[in-house]
Amino acid sequence: MSSRKTSPPSGHGGDKYSVLLPTYNERENLPLIVWLLVKYFGESGYDYEIIVIDDGSPDGTLEVAQQLQNIYGEDKILLRPRAKKLGLGTAYIHGIKHASGNFIFIMDADLSHHPKFIPEFIRLQKEEDFDLVSGTRYKGDGGVYGWDLRRKMISRGANFLTQVLLRPGASDLTGSFRLYKRQVLESLVERCVSKGYVFQMEMIVRARQLHYSIGEVPISFVDRVYGESKLGGNEIVSFVKGLLTLFATT
Ligand code: GDD
Ligand code: MN
Repeated sequence: MSSRKTSPPSGHGGDKYSVLLPTYNERENLPLIVWLLVKYFGESGYDYEIIVIDDGSPDGTLEVAQQLQNIYGEDKILLRPRAKKLGLGTAYIHGIKHASGNFIFIMDADLSHHPKFIPEFIRLQKEEDFDLVSGTRYKGDGGVYGWDLRRKMISRGANFLTQVLLRPGASDLTGSFRLYKRQVLESLVERCVSKGYVFQMEMIVRARQLHYSIGEVPISFVDRVYGESKLGGNEIVSFVKGLLTLFATT
């Protein structure tokens, strides 16, 4: 309906959303996810920026991101690359430092997290002024599509173990499609010790400890079509280590 040049309708209160997109070998996926983000944010009328945190991808993801920046503008696409693969947790921390929004979205760049859910995250956050809104695959209409049994069991197992040990009271602990108030995210990141995939789980556990309010949006997670997952055996070992550390220290 509205073109991208239209200024936001009044009542949006000057809110700005920063989207953190960590990338490692996402050359094929990046143009589409960025296009979809531009589409859904454009329709919403909210101000936004997309921060691409590429960790020296050998497949040329950064060059693709540069082309997207030429298309959509330097105010919409920010490039905050790092020289090498330093892990997902620290990629977010790096991105937050450069974010200018008062709200921050965290999501995967491989289209497993569809931007069509973004308006629902924003609506729910505003409804009850939630400190964070977490996408959940394990409640309501949420679900996982395209994973094999092994991968489903890893995810369910990680969630189950964490629920039992830490009782954080949210249905999807390892998911990484989330919306945070900026200060909330900063205060959580300060307290988080994990560096890799376990970061997501630690964030929501700490959020509960600090009595932040958490809303949940059911999402469908669709396994990537292009490229491959970076979650390997090492990440699973560090997840369990991280979980046990949290169990011992909280
Ligand atoms: N910059 C950077 N550095 N990006 C990374 C790195 C890294 O070291 N590792 C992964 N990424 C990026 C990927 O390019 C992708 O955009 C996103 O982080 C998620 O990585 P995937 O490799 O696609 O993860 P997944 O699909 O196996 O795992 C998903 O499900 C997990 C369990 O539910 C993710 O959503 C995880 O965050 C989640 O914990
Ligand atoms: Mn993925």
